[in-house]
Amino acid sequence: MPAAKQLRRLFNDTTYTMETVLSGIRSTGHLHLGNYFGALKNFVKIQDKYNCYFFIADLHSLTTHPHPDDFHASVKTILAEYLAAGLDPEKATLYIQSDVPEVSELYVLLNMIAYVGELERTVTFKEKVRQNPDNVNAGLLTYPVLMASDILIHRANWVPVGKDQEQHLEMARVYARRFNSMYGVEVFPEAHNLVFTGEAIKVPGLDGTGKMGKSNGNGIYLYDDEKTITKKVMKAVTDSGPTEPNSPMPQVIENLFTLLRLVSDQSTVDYFTEKWNDCSIRYGDLKKQLAQDICKITLPIKEKIDAIYNDDAYLSKVVASGRDRARASASATLTEVRKAIGFRAF
Ligand code: TRP
Repeated sequence: MPAAKQLRRLFNDTTYTMETVLSGIRSTGHLHLGNYFGALKNFVKIQDKYNCYFFIADLHSLTTHPHPDDFHASVKTILAEYLAAGLDPEKATLYIQSDVPEVSELYVLLNMIAYVGELERTVTFKEKVRQNPDNVNAGLLTYPVLMASDILIHRANWVPVGKDQEQHLEMARVYARRFNSMYGVEVFPEAHNLVFTGEAIKVPGLDGTGKMGKSNGNGIYLYDDEKTITKKVMKAVTDSGPTEPNSPMPQVIENLFTLLRLVSDQSTVDYFTEKWNDCSIRYGDLKKQLAQDICKITLPIKEKIDAIYNDDAYLSKVVASGRDRARASASATLTEVRKAIGFRAF
């Protein structure tokens, strides 16, 4: 039976095997509201319904050569923020990519079936070349191969990714298929994008330029304090206000309402929608309310981040147990991979 089928969840069977969900995040900077509403909040919801692997992609972050003093702190930051937001190390396997050397071994092996031509055509690679022509390293070129290794090492079925990572996920499927057909064994299932329904996933930035992003400088972070959040929200780009009743909203105002829908209750959203429609809206009031409601969600998380970040004993326990579980799963896959390729013991 192919792995994917074997893993498919049988809803009426109490002995079902859960499907595997996997997601990685590079260890750069803090998590923002986009990460929280677009991904993290949903991870928390599904962590006991799937066999989940959530890891910190510290190897991937090396493409930009972080200073050794910052490298560890960045990993620790994301880990503390993941835990504070509600990921439960008892339910999901939380680990650090570089703690699982099997990933790097699979990366070497997959590099043999990844063609330079297809890597050079990757959109993210071409973008990086344009942005940083002085740092076109081989790790950047083979970034999708490392990401495929992350996914295939646990034979994941579902990988929740945003638009910008869809091509990488497609490449992981290409390598899975290529490997299976080259060696004539169904070692890898094909991983698909897990798209969460329900709440709006695209979280806008506050500068009207589109998506909230780490590198866009337009983010509100889970780690921001009340003063910072209020300042950022009050500075959000607006316009001179509606001049006719019921007029369509320009993008920058729509963005504020999108955020409001994510963090505020329905009556608040209705109240300001009405104010917009009858042209009596005061952006200052809207922003004040928005800042308050953001804080209601993020400040308790921030408090937990601080506590967890300073609890080294707890963190090292979480990391060790995640590593052990991840390595067990990874080495089982690698054994199959090595067998398929033709490694034999002497
Ligand atoms: N490339 C992803 C990003 O930049 C991070 C990542 C690394 C990842 N390995 C992964 C995401 C495996 C999903 C699965 O956002």
